[in-house]
Amino acid sequence: MTDFFPYGKQSINEQDCEQVLAALKQPIITRGELVHNFEEKLKATVGAEYCVVVNSGSTALEAAYYAAQGRVNDKVLTTPNSFIASCGPGIRRGMTPCFVDIDRATGNMDLEKTLLNLDYASSRGRLFVVPVHFGGIAMDMKPIREELRDPRAVIIEDAAHALGSKYPSGEKVGSCTYSDMTILSFHPVKNITTGEGGAITTNDPELYKRLLDFRNNGIQRTGQVWDYDVTAFTGNYNFTELQAALGLSQLERMEAFVDKRRALVKRYREKLKGCDKIRLFTDKQDDITAFHLMVIQTQMDRTPFMEKLREKGVGTQLHYLPLYRHTAVKEKVGDIAEYLPEMEAYAKTALSIPLYYDLTLQDVDHIADLLQQSL
Ligand SMILES: Cc1ncc(COP(=O)(O)O)c(C=O)c1O
Repeated sequence: MTDFFPYGKQSINEQDCEQVLAALKQPIITRGELVHNFEEKLKATVGAEYCVVVNSGSTALEAAYYAAQGRVNDKVLTTPNSFIASCGPGIRRGMTPCFVDIDRATGNMDLEKTLLNLDYASSRGRLFVVPVHFGGIAMDMKPIREELRDPRAVIIEDAAHALGSKYPSGEKVGSCTYSDMTILSFHPVKNITTGEGGAITTNDPELYKRLLDFRNNGIQRTGQVWDYDVTAFTGNYNFTELQAALGLSQLERMEAFVDKRRALVKRYREKLKGCDKIRLFTDKQDDITAFHLMVIQTQMDRTPFMEKLREKGVGTQLHYLPLYRHTAVKEKVGDIAEYLPEMEAYAKTALSIPLYYDLTLQDVDHIADLLQQSL
């Protein structure tokens, strides 16, 4: 048995290593055929028309806000239970964040409250809705799309946690059935990894074109091999052949990853059932969720509890400190904690416990026992 269980980590096997090594020996090691193949395979996996891979999930969000031309006076309706990259690129573009309280049964934006906030009647700005499928549990996007009446409004799904999940309505996350764009992350703790990496999927050819521009310094090819035109100032966010080789290999393993994570969550549920000091998310979407995180909610004093678990070999983490509590965000929105009681209550009690492919069911039994002994 392992000595220490982190809350999350990658799974790298021989096939992954061999494919990366083979990519390294190619004459071209960036922006090549493997990158194209990875985009094609990702598109097919999620069922979208277009896919652009970039160097991180955070960059994918930058690219999405850029492609949709977010600007001053536009509003970003999003969740406070996320990583800064969900709304940060929007704020940097001068957009105004508006946080919706969460549903403690899923960690996602509360659907009812989200729907109530869709009527953003401004003569100047547009509404951007940016839901995060927290921990892998997909938000129900269908009602959001259907009730969003303003044709100028934009939906960007942050699916950094949710590659492999489906919506309650049955479609795959990433298909953009109900959104303009969806972003993914391939950071090591995520459902598949490319070391660092991210992607944007869309069904809109215009957005696709702008995403490509963003990735490569605003450069557009003119047709001549020697000629190109720079149409915007962006940066270089390209993906290497090494990352793509790893991504292709990981995608082949994705079904196994999803099944295993689901089985581990099921085992945690069985082991922790009866423990009234620990609250888990709803199991309603378990069959359609590719779990990124295993979150518990407990009234324990967090720091000593985390310390105690660490001493016993169990790594934990808080996902997330509310975004509006970070200095840079607070400067924009002020002190709004009192308006988000569910997020506040959740953040006081939440803790992510180990969940990753290489964990065994016996490890889960052991971790669940240690948890209960530590309460
Ligand atoms: C919800 C969410 N969005 C975006 C990101 C950004 O992804 P990356 O780490 O690949 O930049 C993360 C990563 O932690 C995330 O958890």
